[in-house]
Amino acid sequence: MAFLRRLLLAVVVSVIAVAASPLSARVFHDDPRVPPGYKVLRRAAPHTVLPFRVGLKQSNIDSIESFLLDVSHPESPNYGKHWTAAQVAETFRPSSESVGTVHNWLTESGVDASRIKLSASGAWVQANVTIAEAERLLEAEYYIYEHEATESRHIACGQGYTLPADVAPHVDIVLPTVHFDAKHRGRRSMKRSESGPGDAAGSSGRPVSDAVIQKLDANTLEFAQDADTSELANCDKNITLACLRVLYNFPEFPKPASSSNRTIGIVEYTPQAYTPEDLDNFFKTYSPSQVGERPNEVDIDGGTIHVNSTNSNSFGESNLDLQYAMGLLGTSQDVILYQNGDLVEGASFDNFLDALDGSFCTFEGGDDPSQDSIYPDPFPGGFTGPENCGGAPLAHVISTSYGTNEASLTPAYAQRQCAEYAKLGLMGTTVLYSSGDEGVSGHGELCIAPNGTEVAGSGAFNPTFPGVCPFVTSVGATQVNPGASVHDPESSCQQVIFPGGGFSNVFALPEYQKTAVQTYLTKFPPPYPPTQFNSTGRSRGFPDISANGANYIVSILGEFAHVFGTSCATPVSAAFIAAINDARAAHNKSSVGFINPTLYSSAFKNAFNDITNGTNPGCGTEGFAARPGWDPLTGLGTPNVEKWLQLFLELP
Ligand SMILES: *[C@@H]1O[C@H](CO)[C@@H](O)[C@H](O)[C@H]1NC(C)=O
Ligand SMILES: *[C@@H]1O[C@H](CO)[C@@H](O)[C@H](O)[C@H]1NC(C)=O
Ligand SMILES: *[C@@H]1O[C@H](CO)[C@@H](O)[C@H](O)[C@H]1NC(C)=O
Ligand SMILES: *[C@@H]1O[C@H](CO)[C@@H](O)[C@H](O)[C@H]1NC(C)=O
Ligand SMILES: *[C@@H]1O[C@H](CO)[C@@H](O)[C@H](O)[C@H]1NC(C)=O
Ligand SMILES: *[C@@H]1O[C@H](CO)[C@@H](O)[C@H](O)[C@H]1NC(C)=O
Ligand SMILES: *[C@@H]1O[C@H](CO)[C@@H](O)[C@H](O)[C@H]1NC(C)=O
Ligand SMILES: *[C@@H]1O[C@H](CO)[C@@H](O)[C@H](O)[C@H]1NC(C)=O
Repeated sequence: MAFLRRLLLAVVVSVIAVAASPLSARVFHDDPRVPPGYKVLRRAAPHTVLPFRVGLKQSNIDSIESFLLDVSHPESPNYGKHWTAAQVAETFRPSSESVGTVHNWLTESGVDASRIKLSASGAWVQANVTIAEAERLLEAEYYIYEHEATESRHIACGQGYTLPADVAPHVDIVLPTVHFDAKHRGRRSMKRSESGPGDAAGSSGRPVSDAVIQKLDANTLEFAQDADTSELANCDKNITLACLRVLYNFPEFPKPASSSNRTIGIVEYTPQAYTPEDLDNFFKTYSPSQVGERPNEVDIDGGTIHVNSTNSNSFGESNLDLQYAMGLLGTSQDVILYQNGDLVEGASFDNFLDALDGSFCTFEGGDDPSQDSIYPDPFPGGFTGPENCGGAPLAHVISTSYGTNEASLTPAYAQRQCAEYAKLGLMGTTVLYSSGDEGVSGHGELCIAPNGTEVAGSGAFNPTFPGVCPFVTSVGATQVNPGASVHDPESSCQQVIFPGGGFSNVFALPEYQKTAVQTYLTKFPPPYPPTQFNSTGRSRGFPDISANGANYIVSILGEFAHVFGTSCATPVSAAFIAAINDARAAHNKSSVGFINPTLYSSAFKNAFNDITNGTNPGCGTEGFAARPGWDPLTGLGTPNVEKWLQLFLELP
């Protein structure tokens, strides 16, 4: 319906435009989506001034996948020859033609040249314009929307906007237009609530933790008294470092050569935090030589671990990630903790990317003020320093156990961010994201209604982002079956959580994944109509790999608890990659960078434990089923790290 309406509008608009002047045909840009809970209050007043910003299309961005394959495909002669940050910034800087075209469009539409500015990065053309001017520029209507729950107000042209056809190819995104305030900075909710399991923030486009915490119940403890309590005998009940080493054939690697300074970065979003006492409590029991070890904390945009809370939900994710990444790597690795955002506003994935790459830091205070946090924080008690633009070191492996829903973001926003992950890959960094814990539904158990909005319970499958971006490695979760041993085949995680997985509605099928995805859809066609998910076989499938995500023993506020989720599987997989990087460094070889083309190559066919049991229910369905080969809940399977190591060492 919505699509039909837009199609009709497009026809009408272009017919009128063509009649007026053949050069000024107009095209729809980006995808309007009014998130649930917002209603129109009134038309915006024509004299209100807007900070109008046009995000220019980056040069060469259409070639980014081939650039990335050139340095990441195992058969490429340039494998491992990663780019410098300067090379990346130079290659993708918007062209002077793009700057000129947008500038001319504004001046010809009556915005005087003296009012137009180009951002320092060269990526944004900015001008303060009135609503009346913006409506003329975009042939759109601006309204004031109000969120029913938070009463936060937002100016947007929720029905979409058009650009002149000759300008559109030079533009990524125009702000403010169809993007909604994801932070709900309403009068009643100045402070971000602590995100935890089942957090309904799923539709907000903001990072949500993929960890679910359960207190160790009496049963677990009672059982322990009359059973064999050796760690390896109980991996179906308690996952520990020892279980993971056996499950994934991960021996303690020799210490890396002293010349190596390869790093792993664990990403956290405030108010999630770890406590030093919990690290020591965990190490004391499971890795005694590491008591006293701490990550190197890099605070971004007011990031802090001093969270004043007794709510264990705030301390699950970070303690889990650090205890397992540090515990698996032993003392051999520098572990960076990227702590993002203050306690008032928090941070978005873009805020973090700004800190890694100054050329992405596209305008003062965030990339899109309706999605990303603004620093210095305009809210009382917030961080008063400037936004971190390119000030954080880039680790060789980056693990993030947070996600949001693809449908909560506009395609332009998601694509811009996804391209940034490709740039990190070009620079030799492996980026891993958890695939989500709610099966085929999105965070907050939201599915997609026929009109494109997110609704609870039923509707089309709702892929998680950024896992669905083809330039990250998405990680699903498995389990040791109840009663089974650590040597038995695992299943897809079927307790407490089900791994996220499925097919994108935005991102095309990447070359490296073609055979895997098309084989699955052909050999094991899912029993759903085409409206249930993107079954075209032309869209990106996720996750790529998986690892155990059930019953992790984690110290949280002084007590051991069980943690479940793709949150567990992600730092564990990242630790394996970090160890492989170390081994390659000892042979004077580069970091592995973007690993997907290698993982899907035929050489790796026998380097996985294939997972063939389990489903990932959601949206009122059974979801997808694990099958031999790649599938959209466990990916290619879990790693056999010894085999991975051997194969990665054979690469140049
Ligand atoms: C728009 O107005 C604000 C507030 O007066 C000012 O700080 C900003 O520099 C202006 N932007 C442009 C592009 O002129
Ligand atoms: C699981 O781990 C907890 C915490 O270390 C321990 O108290 C319990 O005995 C363990 N249970 C089993 C069955 O090993
Ligand atoms: C170690 O890090 C420094 C600074 O980031 C870098 O210049 C150097 O090349 C690195 N050394 C190795 C062996 O990676
Ligand atoms: C922590 O919160 C409590 C209750 O809100 C308050 O009384 C206390 O002063 C706070 N402590 C710090 C260090 O902010
Ligand atoms: C979209 O559909 C859902 C579910 O049918 C409905 O609740 C919602 O109001 C609709 N939203 C719009 C903007 O039409
Ligand atoms: C499949 O998984 C279920 C647990 O969800 C388990 O009961 C069953 O034994 C598993 N089957 C196989 C063949 O592994
Ligand atoms: C399926 O995905 C492809 C590639 O991302 C996209 O072009 C297409 O529009 C999608 N189809 C549907 C029906 O969503
Ligand atoms: C790595 O490079 C160093 C310095 O160039 C050299 O001394 C060493 O022998 C090389 N190691 C290997 C395994 O090639």
